[in-house]
Formats: sequence, C-alpha cells, structure tokens
Amino acid sequence: MLRVLSGLQPSGDLHLGNYLGAVRNWVADQYEYDAIYCIVDLHALTLDIDPEELRSRTYETALDLLASGLDPERCTLFVQSHVAEHTRLAWLLECTATMGELRRMTQFKDKSAGRDSVRAGLFTYPVLQSADILLYDAERVPVGDDQRQHVELARELANRFNRRYGDTFVVPEAAIPKLAARVMDLQHPENKMSKSVNSPLGTVMLFDEGPDIVRKVQKAVTDTDGEVRYDPGAKPGLSNLLELLAVSTGRTPAEVAGSYQRYGDLKKDVAEALVELLRPLRERRAALAGDPGAVTALLSLGAAKAGITASATYERAAGAIGLLTPG
Ligand code: TYM
Repeated sequence: MLRVLSGLQPSGDLHLGNYLGAVRNWVADQYEYDAIYCIVDLHALTLDIDPEELRSRTYETALDLLASGLDPERCTLFVQSHVAEHTRLAWLLECTATMGELRRMTQFKDKSAGRDSVRAGLFTYPVLQSADILLYDAERVPVGDDQRQHVELARELANRFNRRYGDTFVVPEAAIPKLAARVMDLQHPENKMSKSVNSPLGTVMLFDEGPDIVRKVQKAVTDTDGEVRYDPGAKPGLSNLLELLAVSTGRTPAEVAGSYQRYGDLKKDVAEALVELLRPLRERRAALAGDPGAVTALLSLGAAKAGITASATYERAAGAIGLLTPG
C-alpha cells in the first residue's frame, strides 16, 4: 500500500489554513493509504518557545488532530522527538545537502529576515524535514503550498543520496490540494494565514466558537469595486472567501461567485459554512479532552510503531554511507 507521511509543528493552535491545506487531506488519506503523521516538536525549537508551552502544545496538538478526524486505528500518530532516528538521519542528510540549496529556501529567508540572531537549526530545518519524510519510505506528502519547496528538497536529497551510495530512499512527491492550498489571512489577504503572525481577527482558529467565526468573516477585508468575481491576483480577499465557501461545499470558486451579487450575502454564507464545517471538530475535541491518559498511550504506541520502520531505514542509510555497523 502506498505510504503517506506528513507533519505539523506544535508551535500554536491549529487554524483553518492548517486544516484545509493539510489536515483535512490527512484524514482522507488514512482511509486509502498507509498513513503516518508526526507532531514535529523538534522543528518548533528553531524559534523561541517556552519549554512548558512546547510540552503542553505538543499534547494539545495531538488532541486537535484527533478531533480533526485522525483515527488511531487507521493511521500512525506520534511525536517526532520520540523516534531518535529523525535526528540521526538528519545528520546523514546534512552531509548530503549544500549550504547553497538551504540558503535558497524561502521559508528560511522569511523566518530569519530582520533577526540579528538566527538559530542554526532554522537553517537546517528543511533537512530534518527531509529526514521525517525519507525515514518512512513515503511516496506521498500531503501539505499546503508553502511546503512545496521543502518537499522538493527531500526529493533532491533522496535522488542525490541514491546516486552516490546506491538505492536507499524512496523519492517522495508533494500532494497539494487544488483548492485552499494557501488560505489567506482575512485581514491581510496578501499574506497566508499563519500560526506565527499576530493577526487574531484575520486568523480563524480551528476551535473558535461559532460567533467568533462569524465576526471574523464579517470583518474580512475585501475591496471596493463591488463585483463578485474569482480573481486571486486582483481580488485576493474576495477570492479567498470564494475558495473557502467552494471547499466547504464541494463547488468551484467560479461557480460560487456566479451565485452572488453582493459581498454581504457571500460573507454570511461563508461564515455559516465554516461554522458547520468545524462544528463536529469542536464537539469531538470536547469529548477527547476528558481522557488525557488515552492520548498519551496512543502517542507512545504510535512512536513504537513508527520506530520499527524508522530504524530499518536508518540502518540502511548508515550502511550505504559507510558507517561501521555496531557489533
Ligand atoms: P506547519 O506546522 O507550518 O503547517 C502544517 C501544515 O499546514 C499547512 N498550512 C497551510 N495550508 C494552507 N493555507 C495556509 N495558510 C497554511 N498554513 C499552513 C502547511 O503547508 C503544512 O502542510 N515544515 C512543516 C512541518 C513538517 C513536515 C514534515 C511536513 C515537518 N516535517 C514532513 C510534511 C512532511 C511546517 O512547518 O508545517
């Protein structure tokens, strides 16, 4: 069965972009493929995060993902730092990647811009991500559009390693949704919705209460020409709303646009559709929060399962690159 792998940072609460761009597709993939999902706590260390906050967010992220519909009977869910091979393989891949290709990563450029002290881990971050993917022989990596370049790097490193040391890794491919691959901030529609940007009114959190979702959508920034038309370049705010309604109702943005004359009517329906889309998640989250022991047990089972594949791949790579097998 085709293997799928993806990951998500526990650096903040999940938002609509995470859900529509990635997690919703993780849920769908678990019914079709051998699916492995990872909460990437080591990646969260690349920016400043309080230790207690990291610990609690890692746990909360597991709850969020389960509430979103991940079924532990159907997929493997684990915490990255619980499987030591991620950092072990990352080193072998750091010795495969070049400074030049890491310098070209747009996410590194964005996240390091304007900082006078940048952690080395922020620079090598995409190599650790490549290790996450390559350890599991993943063929398919469901992500939002902002991860396209990182998955390209994983492909490149896999190919380079295979050429240099013989066939070792499966070469992965990004699976990016046609719609909502880049959900934009409702207040600043030229920027993507993001955990790290402080835009509370522009970011719909996955577990926002209904009235908060309605308020955020009503206040969404659009434009003044008044024509309902799907045109992400010229009308980013309005087009974002059209995409949100399209993806929530299984239509195309152009079809949705054809049904409206006025921005106000569109906003009302977008808000309603999002409240309905997210309602079951909110209800499941409340039920799960009552049983923390079960979630912890599930994560340790996930790590044990993931660890079996991860150590086999690591041993294969270590052997290929010339490390002496311990006696
Ligand atoms: P992260 O934690 O920033 O985001 C998790 C997923 O959400 C998607 N996403 C979006 N999709 C659409 N619109 C948005 N506004 C939006 N914001 C975020 C992201 O594309 C991502 O799929 N480096 C990764 C985590 C990672 C990973 C991996 C992913 C680590 N190892 C291995 C895949 C495979 C990240 O920071 O995602």
